[in-house]
Amino acid sequence: MSLVNGTEIFKAAREGHYAVGAFNTNNLEWTRAILGAAQETNTPILIQTSMGAAKYMGGYELCKNLVEQTIKSMNITVPVIMHLDHGNYEAAKECIEVGYNSVMFDGHDLPFEENLAKTKEIVALAHAKGISVEAEVGSIGGEEDGIIGAGELADVEEAKQLAAAGPDYLAVGIGNIHGVYPENWQGLSFDRLQELADAIDLPLVLHGGSGIPKEQILKAIEMGISKVNVNTEQQIAWSNAVKEYYAENKDQAEKGFDPRKVLAPGTKAIKDTVESRIKWFGTPAVK
Ligand code: G3H
Ligand code: ZN
Repeated sequence: MSLVNGTEIFKAAREGHYAVGAFNTNNLEWTRAILGAAQETNTPILIQTSMGAAKYMGGYELCKNLVEQTIKSMNITVPVIMHLDHGNYEAAKECIEVGYNSVMFDGHDLPFEENLAKTKEIVALAHAKGISVEAEVGSIGGEEDGIIGAGELADVEEAKQLAAAGPDYLAVGIGNIHGVYPENWQGLSFDRLQELADAIDLPLVLHGGSGIPKEQILKAIEMGISKVNVNTEQQIAWSNAVKEYYAENKDQAEKGFDPRKVLAPGTKAIKDTVESRIKWFGTPAVK
């Protein structure tokens, strides 16, 4: 199995009350760790680039080729969805052009009517090429790669209108926040999630998946969350592993300064984190 779109995979997740993880990549090591975790657990996975990460790596086409070639060289057999995370209108169009399998058009900062109109345009362009679309209603709190949201709860009427625009999955603001959660965080709003889940059949997406207590994630999945986005937890795992490597002076022994040796513990830490989240989400193994 190679790259696939996300439509059927997430539809099945909503119907089956489980989620499929969406993990951000930043470079070759991240890509290998995420794909390796999917293969190890024999589960489908979504690998995504933010606009900032794609710029850092050299552009969307390079990212798409990197994932495609890594799938080949690692003999990855599970379904992999290559996705644009929090794309603006131009980025979504470019990723549709270069052949991502799935794009998020994040119009939360636009007036609602414009978000709706542009979501419809992106859906038409993407669906003509068999590419899935994620839309967003209500902003996700905090900041991710320059995308800043105040974290309000999604409006149910707006969510219904956006769902009717034809995306394949819908990101909803339910008190979730990007990055590290503040100590005084009030938790997810299950009341709002229930209202959204009752009104909308589409797979719902939970952003800001890092640091939410496991019980809250499981409850949200049971209620209709089918895609959980996780980024910061991999970054922290990576950073701690690299810090430990240097703290133990491993770079001083047996050519430990070789970047391949320096990067290995961080890569393993990402892979372990992704595997543990796949298990939390209950993603079933591929038959
Ligand atoms: O779009 C990506 C995410 O929502 C990741 O959020 O960095 O808080 O895990 P996180
Ligand atoms: Zn996000």
